[in-house]
Amino acid sequence: MSTEAPADPVPQPSAGLPNPPAGQGESALPTADAAYWEEAAASFDDEPDHGLRDPAVRSAWAARLRSWLPSAPAAVLDLGCGTGSLALLAAEQGHRVTGVDRSPRMIAQARGKLAGHDAAFLVGDAAEPPVGEQRFDAVLVRHVLWALPDPSAVLRHWAGLLAPGGRLVLVEGRWGEAEPIGIPAGELTALVEPLAAHTHVEDLSHDPVLWGKEVTDERYALIAGFPPGIPT
Ligand SMILES: C[S@@+](CC[C@H](N)C(=O)[O-])C[C@H]1O[C@@H](n2cnc3c(N)ncnc32)[C@H](O)[C@@H]1O
Repeated sequence: MSTEAPADPVPQPSAGLPNPPAGQGESALPTADAAYWEEAAASFDDEPDHGLRDPAVRSAWAARLRSWLPSAPAAVLDLGCGTGSLALLAAEQGHRVTGVDRSPRMIAQARGKLAGHDAAFLVGDAAEPPVGEQRFDAVLVRHVLWALPDPSAVLRHWAGLLAPGGRLVLVEGRWGEAEPIGIPAGELTALVEPLAAHTHVEDLSHDPVLWGKEVTDERYALIAGFPPGIPT
């Protein structure tokens, strides 16, 4: 398997980035290596869709997020939250955000970015977030699930973190041309459909404003609604 990082959703590796540990199967991807993200944190926001510094890009993500999250103020869990760019948009829309990321440097940036907002950030594993008995109206995950070792088990766990009537908002893709990496929408839908009451896939490839450029690979959001009873 290639260890070359894709142009998106991860930043280009700098010359000083460590190689991933050998012999870890799927986790031989640099993006599955915690040290990779610690190194990447300082420049992560330089990508247009990461830092959302361009008002047009920021506004495009804000509009999508508004349509994906509950309309009333809600408890949102942002897993693999990175520097907190989406968490900040959610907080600005009135939601109470809990962010979890394995990288302390990412979490430090997110805490700084959301200072003064109703938000909490925890260092921890997105696959098993350290949130105790707390339940959430929405679990938001952008560009993280594809790199986790067992997406099917992780999705079941995330479904269990939802309050009745909650939703999963999964922003994923399959990036690159020669050796694409990621998870196609059809594959993710097949994993989520048995758990959810309904799913909806939204194409994001054809909206260049989201990415700050034209893109040709597969990018999408999958929104999965759960019944107002106890989730599976
Ligand atoms: C491509 S970035 C996405 C960041 C953020 N979701 C966004 O869209 O801006 C991937 C993030 O997931 C985090 N991450 C990767 N594996 C993780 C894991 N097992 N548990 C928690 N965070 C993880 C990395 O530290 C990094 O911040």
